[in-house]
Amino acid sequence: MQAELLVLRLVHVLGGIFWVGSGLFTTLFLVPVLASSGATAGQVMAGLQQRRLFSVLPTVAFLTILSGLRLMWLTSAGFSAAYFAAPSGLTYAVSGLAATVAFVLALLVVRPAAVRSASLAASLAAADETRRAELTAELGSLRRRGAIGSTVVIVLLVLGAAGMAVARYV
Ligand code: HEM
Repeated sequence: MQAELLVLRLVHVLGGIFWVGSGLFTTLFLVPVLASSGATAGQVMAGLQQRRLFSVLPTVAFLTILSGLRLMWLTSAGFSAAYFAAPSGLTYAVSGLAATVAFVLALLVVRPAAVRSASLAASLAAADETRRAELTAELGSLRRRGAIGSTVVIVLLVLGAAGMAVARYV
C-alpha cells in the first residue's frame, strides 16, 4: 500500500509538472512566437509532430488523471461522502475536475487544430499560389481556434494545479 502510494504520487506529481509546464510554455511563449513566424511556424509544428508531442502530452496527462483518481480512491476510503464533505477533499475533487475538463477540451479542440495545422503547414511549400492562399486562410482560422482553446485549457489547468497545491492545508 505504502509502495503503491509512493509510485502513484511520483507518477502523479511528475506527470502534472510536465503537463502543466508544457501547457504554460506552449500557450504563453510558443503559440505567440509561431503566430508571428510566417512559414517557419509550419516547420516547427511539423517538427513537434515528428517528435510526437501531440501523442506524448495527452498520454502523460491521462496518466496524471488516472493516478489522481487512484490516489483519491485510496485516500478517500473508496470515494466516501465524508471525504468530499471536508474542505480538503472537496478542493482535491474540484481541482481534479478542472484538470479533467481541461484534458477533454484539449483533446477535442486544441489537439485536432494543432495536428491539422501541422499537416497543412507541411503541404504549404508544395502548393501553387491559389492553393497556398486557401491553406493560409484555413491555417489562420485553425490558429485562432487553437489559441482560444488553449487559453481556456491553461486557465483550467492552472486552477487545477493551484487547488492541488493547497488542498491539504485548507
Ligand atoms: C493539473 C493536473 C494536476 C496536477 C498538477 C496535480 C498535482 C498534484 C500535486 C502536486 C499533489 C500533491 C499535493 C500534496 O501532497 O499536498 C496532488 C495530489 C493529489 N491529486 Fe492531483 N494533480 C493534478 C490532477 C489531478 C486529477 C485529475 C486528480 C483526480 C481526481 C487528482 C487527484 C489528486 C489527489 C486525490 C491527491 C492527494 C493524494 C494524497 O493525498 O496522497 N489530481 N496533485
